[in-house]
Amino acid sequence: MTAVGWGKVILLGEHAVVYGYPALAAALDRGVTIDAISTPAGGPLRLDIPAWDLRVSASARDEEHPVARALAAIADELGIGRPAVTLVGDAQIEHSAGLGSSAAMAVAITRALLVYTKRAQDVKTILAAASASESVMHGKPSGIDATLATHGGIGVYRKSAGLRPIAAKIRVLVAPSGIPRSTAAMVDRVAQATASGRTQMTNAPTTNSDGRLVELGNLTDTGTTALLRGDHAGLGAAMNRAHELLANLGVSTEQLDSLCEAARATGAHGAKLTGAGGGGAVIAIAPRDREQAILAEWKHAGVSGFVSTIG
Ligand code: MEV
Repeated sequence: MTAVGWGKVILLGEHAVVYGYPALAAALDRGVTIDAISTPAGGPLRLDIPAWDLRVSASARDEEHPVARALAAIADELGIGRPAVTLVGDAQIEHSAGLGSSAAMAVAITRALLVYTKRAQDVKTILAAASASESVMHGKPSGIDATLATHGGIGVYRKSAGLRPIAAKIRVLVAPSGIPRSTAAMVDRVAQATASGRTQMTNAPTTNSDGRLVELGNLTDTGTTALLRGDHAGLGAAMNRAHELLANLGVSTEQLDSLCEAARATGAHGAKLTGAGGGGAVIAIAPRDREQAILAEWKHAGVSGFVSTIG
């Protein structure tokens, strides 16, 4: 049985979500699929994703590829040792592109291993194993990517409460910039830019009252209300402002700014970077009759975008 983990887009609230603010996010209609194939001759637990040119064996050693360590972390969290299995994967999203590829991979791997070891597809177990993998890949993630990769759908995510699904559907244009980025480095950059607002109490989550993070959280509320009313112009305005704030926090790039500007100039309601920034992807929402023109503008800029129906 082929196991799947979904990619995701964050419509509003990335980075602020790390400090407990809400984020509006949705699973994409594409992600990572994995099949577990037993290796009768024995051998290590292996992962092979040709679409990413990726081939590793589970290993907890520091000098190994991060995905080798992530694979070991998943097997350890599931308590299954190192079965003689090759996990063969396919990916419909690029890696390191801001679309939740590492969480999609972790969820698909976990589901495939649960099938292989004849265990139930328990959501708590999947999230725990995917989080162990995400911690190896990204440091201290908020959990939004792993949650969307597991549940799919669209909703408002908070670290403290998880995902609250909402009844909404919208077409989103996605432009993977082709420039890989490090989530951990971008989260670090925001931590430095907002250092004066941070409070760390012993044994309590870090809070941060920096005005830009507060506003990003508020924009999630405004944008979600607009989306639920079918007010795409209102959602677009919230996305445009969120991009300005993220740029001010230092996580945009000239290329991401200009992909957003091209989308707006071609009639998009709104456009912004999505995910960690520093490369990665841009999203836009637009009237249906502007979509092809926006994709063509992005193509001129050397980026192959696509439209995804989310929700
Ligand atoms: C990454 O998809 C989203 C960030 O907010 C990091 C996180 O939530 O862990 C940048």
